[in-house]
Amino acid sequence: MIVVAIDGPAGAGKSTIAKALAKRIKLRYLDTGAMYRAVTFAAMNRKIELSDEAAIAKIASDCQMQIADESISIDGLDATAEIRGQEVTRAVSVVATNSLVRTELRNRQRKWVGDHGGGVVEGRDIGSVVFPEATLKVYLTASPMVRAKRRVEQSGGDVERIATEIAERDERDSSRSDSPLMKTSDSVTIDTSDISVDEVVDQIEQLLAKKRDDKKASQ
Ligand code: DC
Repeated sequence: MIVVAIDGPAGAGKSTIAKALAKRIKLRYLDTGAMYRAVTFAAMNRKIELSDEAAIAKIASDCQMQIADESISIDGLDATAEIRGQEVTRAVSVVATNSLVRTELRNRQRKWVGDHGGGVVEGRDIGSVVFPEATLKVYLTASPMVRAKRRVEQSGGDVERIATEIAERDERDSSRSDSPLMKTSDSVTIDTSDISVDEVVDQIEQLLAKKRDDKKASQ
């Protein structure tokens, strides 16, 4: 089973690259950030305080989550557009510090990959915690300004303000005690600031081919 873990901060190009890679190598793609966003959306919809960890964890454990390549629904409600909105984006990193939620979503992620026979999985803790035995671990990064500009192109807004929000989210994602965003020693870092999506995907494909050759040689 092939599992490619793609981790990195917001705006590093994870979704675009993970999707393009999945298409190229004919695997399914899983956006784990969308799962944290969907739980956040459901909590906000039900007017649950983000500080009510047990109530939010209950949503994560009891909900029906339908994840497709381009859409996500939670308890029958299509959340695809709402999870990209500003409200969810501002609140999600708080929900992502909730260890009970993380445990639930990790189990769902592992099950999803098992059910689909592998995949390209994008997130923050994929190579470090969810799939420590992943076939290949890639850590994508880009300069703060490039990352902010990408977000503005996607969803609008003011670059300076978005840059500040991204920095705050990075700080929360990297400093939380449970599975923070980090590079593992066995991951390959690719800076996407100045290279095209195709070039990044080419590099990852070459890395995967090398892994395959190394494995064959060692058998
Ligand atoms: O990648 P994204 O912006 O959609 O992620 C949304 C939030 O969820 C972000 O604060 C990081 C968090 N997240 C996480 O903690 N672990 C993951 N595997 C994926 C996302």
